[in-house]
Amino acid sequence: MVEVDRKTFLASLPAGALAAMSHEDKAEELEHYMEEALDNKIAARRAGADGEAGSIITLEELEQEERSPRGTGRLFMPREDEFPPLPDKPTVLDFFRLRFAPANHVLQSATHALRTGQPERTVFACLMHDVVLNLIKVDHGWWGAQLVEPYVDERVSWGIRYHAALRFYPDEEYGYEYPEMYNRIFGHDYVPEPYIKEAYEYARNHRWYGEARLITVNDTYAFQDDMDVDIEEFTDIIGRQFKQPKEGLGYDNSPVAHMWRTIAFPNRPL
Ligand SMILES: [Fe+2]
Ligand SMILES: [Fe+2]
Repeated sequence: MVEVDRKTFLASLPAGALAAMSHEDKAEELEHYMEEALDNKIAARRAGADGEAGSIITLEELEQEERSPRGTGRLFMPREDEFPPLPDKPTVLDFFRLRFAPANHVLQSATHALRTGQPERTVFACLMHDVVLNLIKVDHGWWGAQLVEPYVDERVSWGIRYHAALRFYPDEEYGYEYPEMYNRIFGHDYVPEPYIKEAYEYARNHRWYGEARLITVNDTYAFQDDMDVDIEEFTDIIGRQFKQPKEGLGYDNSPVAHMWRTIAFPNRPL
């Protein structure tokens, strides 16, 4: 598991950022930080294929990593090279390979759902639950749901929308505990913003509650730096669960086509 301690987490934030951050901002920042830490550790392990000790990235190295501006995803990280071009009619698989990669966290959470025999719809929701973090971090449950809404079963986007709020609320029945790390980082007195609490209460009493709750359960098993998963393993599930527009994502005139275009071309000036 990726170990994230308070000191390392705080040190990774831009100077002065902490004082300006609400608890909720910190939570979003933390999730993103953990995903970056995971991707970096896996990349470092793969690069050190000779299996040398010390092939895992150190926390000091991680602190020196360049970060995207606060609130934005890694697509807005400063970069020297151009993004690799997408095909003319890009599919969700193309986006995984060319924009969301390495996407270890979502791949691992979907794998956990698959191995524990959860419904295919849940496996797929786990696969898509955090991909929007590449674009934007704040309120990522809402953004993430919107990104996929026109193409998926309603219960998938519903689950993605509410998973972000549910993270802060334990549920013994599902075996979901309040993450100990949140205590360490936010303090034991942390209370989520009122709108988060309202979203939680709404979801808690909804007949689809389990759709969102299972995403949070699988979330906690998806920060393992010794696990490799390839998106190819989900090709069939994506084929059944995602209604790929024939014009390609970004060009189908859907209400969210612009979001896919922004992911495809994050550098465009206007
Ligand atoms: Fe999330
Ligand atoms: Fe997640």
